Amino acid sequence: MADSPWEVDGRFFSSRYKIFVVSDAGDELSDQIKGLEDEFEVVVQPIQTVHLHTILQSNPDVVLFPATEECFTLAREIKAGPIGPFTQVLIVGRPDTVASPEQFCASGADNFIKLPLSCDCLRLKLRAQVRIQQHLRAAVERVWKLNAEIQRINRELEMLAEIRFQEIIEVRDLTIFALAKLAESRDPETGEHLERMRWYSRIIAEELCAGSAPEEDIPSRFADEIFRSAPLHDIGKVGIPDSILLKPGRLTPQEFEVMKQHTIIGHQALQEAPRKNAAGSFLARAAEIARSHHERFDGTGYPDGLAGKSIPLAARVVTVADVFDALTSPRVYKKAIDPDVAKSIILREAGAQFDPHVVAAFERRWKDICAVGEPYWQQIPEEKLERSFAEFKGVAGRSIPTETVPLTQKAVPC
Ligand SMILES: [Fe+2]
Ligand SMILES: [Fe+2]
Repeated sequence: MADSPWEVDGRFFSSRYKIFVVSDAGDELSDQIKGLEDEFEVVVQPIQTVHLHTILQSNPDVVLFPATEECFTLAREIKAGPIGPFTQVLIVGRPDTVASPEQFCASGADNFIKLPLSCDCLRLKLRAQVRIQQHLRAAVERVWKLNAEIQRINRELEMLAEIRFQEIIEVRDLTIFALAKLAESRDPETGEHLERMRWYSRIIAEELCAGSAPEEDIPSRFADEIFRSAPLHDIGKVGIPDSILLKPGRLTPQEFEVMKQHTIIGHQALQEAPRKNAAGSFLARAAEIARSHHERFDGTGYPDGLAGKSIPLAARVVTVADVFDALTSPRVYKKAIDPDVAKSIILREAGAQFDPHVVAAFERRWKDICAVGEPYWQQIPEEKLERSFAEFKGVAGRSIPTETVPLTQKAVPC
């Protein structure tokens, strides 16, 4: 055996294999072991003092155990532990000293060496075992390297998939928003209404997700879904004739009935996608918002006259955001209401037009609502602002102008 180190897969090993022998002075093995020290690094430990940790610390290539109960136990612990794959465990003894073949197999030992045995025979057997051990070690290390490589590739693929997934989500969201903007473009005065109302909706939804909506079963991605879906609330207006949608004056009752249909049209269009493909399931949220964003908490809204919690929560959120932005935005037929006044109107309608829990969430996040609206409010010319609540009531004639009230149906374009 050469003394120079040798290499397996770039790792260098000593040519002197380490043999850990559990043997008492004067026993059958002790004499043969002495004759092996020219070739192997031999560590001998008496059976009375041997412990698992001394063997593990020694990190031998081969362990020789006498066939005793204690050594069967040690053999099992070594083979089951971290050095098990790299250590050959041999039981040495006369055939009649092994309690049973089952006991030997249960120990996990790699081989049984029969005594008596000459030193040369033991040398040959140890050479064979260390060769097996080195092949196993090289194979295990190769597996480890391959496994590490596979894990690295998997991580890269996961990152790539995540990047692609995010790109798809972004493109999808942009496409949907563009679609909503296209529908909104028929009403040139709504400005960045969709952008603001989706943020108001998100802020309220986040507050509800944080636990301020008792007895509501809120999905974990509720705020995200609302943010994506809210801009589609009026998508059904693409199906309303220009003569009604763009009519500057008051709608007749018949025209208003047609106008109400935008909720149904939007719902029908949006619910088609999730039916055709499971990937379009997020549009189910948009569909319920499109249908129910003109429902009122007291049950006097449209198109279904739903009341309370039978109105989907997403729609109860969006309707507050939508009305608040409409109140605080000027139109050719109305001025913008001061945000604080608009807030007081929203609060006053808790339990009537709006869900009280949603209104409470809106109020708790008032600072964040203002942070979104402020840049827009500051741009509104003074002559398009209604500063006082009294003045507002005088102009609109009703507390909350919505399409549900024909007299004031054009005060808030929804
Ligand atoms: Fe609407
Ligand atoms: Fe709207």
